This record gives sequence, structure tokens and C-alpha cells, in this order.
Amino acid sequence: MKLLIMGPPGVGKGTQAKILSKILNITHLSTGEILRSEIQMKTRIGKISKSFIDHGNFVPDKLILDIISEKISIKMSNKGYLFDGFPRTIPQATGFDELLIGIGHKLNAAINLTADENELIKRIIARGKSSGRSDEAIDIVKKRQKIYWKQTAPLIDFYQKKDLLKNINGIGEIEEITEKILQVIY
Ligand code: AP5
Ligand code: MG
Repeated sequence: MKLLIMGPPGVGKGTQAKILSKILNITHLSTGEILRSEIQMKTRIGKISKSFIDHGNFVPDKLILDIISEKISIKMSNKGYLFDGFPRTIPQATGFDELLIGIGHKLNAAINLTADENELIKRIIARGKSSGRSDEAIDIVKKRQKIYWKQTAPLIDFYQKKDLLKNINGIGEIEEITEKILQVIY
């Protein structure tokens, strides 16, 4: 099973991706988590990424695609996978297509989680108290929402045209949402 999960910040991508990857026994890859760990380890990628992330901006497409192409070739040539928070721009999505074609893979579905902005901001602010993330101040959270609509929302149409899009309401009990996702991917 080869999946990606998308949707605005706070919609539950990470929460659902962790559960689904266990159930389906596939690799979970979150570009946000990869970048945060690079920052913690003070690597070259981490140093470049930090100023973008702290200000709520996207890390440059080229850097992200380099990370993904390395992960795809090393880790998961045959096991299934679930991308969380990638791709996030049209150039990332077209770059991803090329990578997949290069290794003869095809996505099964693009899961699009939805929720209204009040709920999203409420969730992130609540999580910010314990997550230790550097991008959860209220002004940065609002900026991340804005950037989502400008740069990532066009991917909804991109995956709809490929007939891969599965819209799922991201509001409700976590288990119910997982169940709905499992129903649409099988
Ligand atoms: P990333 O780490 O991907 O953050 P994000 O997209 O902003 O999303 P979040 O992780 O905040 O939310 P989520 O949808 O995973 O929700 P979660 O499950 O945590 O990216 C961070 C930054 O890295 C970006 O801003 C960018 O700078 C950079 N970056 C990453 N990828 C990039 C890329 N591809 N290109 C360029 N830059 C990139 O849930 C949120 C909260 O809600 C949690 O507390 C959770 O417990 C709770 N919750 C979950 N589900 C429910 C539910 N059903 N009901 C109630 N509460 C719930
Ligand atoms: Mg996340």
C-alpha cells in the first residue's frame, strides 16, 4: 500500500499516519518530523531548515525532494509507505511523480483530511503546550494556515485529476476517522 496523507496544519495527519502505518505495516514518513530531527542533530539540512520552520515558511522544494529521493531509495523500495506532510507544493508533487516513475511505483490513494480553521488552531495551540515545537506561537500557527491554502491546497485538484483523492472529514473521534480512511483505501 502506497499512500499519502494531506491537509492543513493540525488536521491530524501525524496522528492518523502513526495509527495507519502500524495497522497496514508500512513505513511512515513525515517530512516535518524528519526536519525537526535534523534540526536537533544540527546537521547541514537542519541548519538550513530551522529559519524557514521557525517562521512558519516552507523549506525549499529542492531540499525536500533530495531528502525524499534518498529515503525512497534506501528504505522502502518494496515495503509500502505513507507520506505525511509531503508533497506540499505543486513542484514537490511533480518531482514526486518523477521519483515514483523512476522506481516503477504507483500511489494507491491521496487521503485529504479536512477541518475548519477554528478547530485546527484550537488543536495546535492545545498541543503547543506540550510539544516543544518552535512553530506553535499563535501568529506562526495562523501564518502556516495561510501558506497551506496558498501553496498546498492546489494539490487537492492535482490528485483529484489523477483520480487518487479521498476526502475524509477530520473532525470526530480519532478511531472513527481511522476507520473511514481504511474503508476508502480498500
Ligand atoms: P509538519 O510537521 O508537517 O506540520 P503541519 O503540517 O503544520 O502539521 P502538524 O504536524 O502541525 O499537524 P498534523 O496534521 O500532523 O496534526 P496532528 O496529528 O499533529 O511541518 C512543520 C513544518 O516543517 C512546516 O511548517 C514546514 O516549515 C516544514 N515542512 C514539513 N514538510 C515540508 C514539505 N514537504 N515542504 C516544505 N516544508 C515542509 O494533530 C494535531 C493535534 O490535534 C494533536 O495534538 C492531536 O493529538 C490532536 N488531534 C488529532 N486528531 C484529532 C481528532 N480527531 N480530534 C481532536 N484532536 C485531534
Ligand atoms: Mg504532523
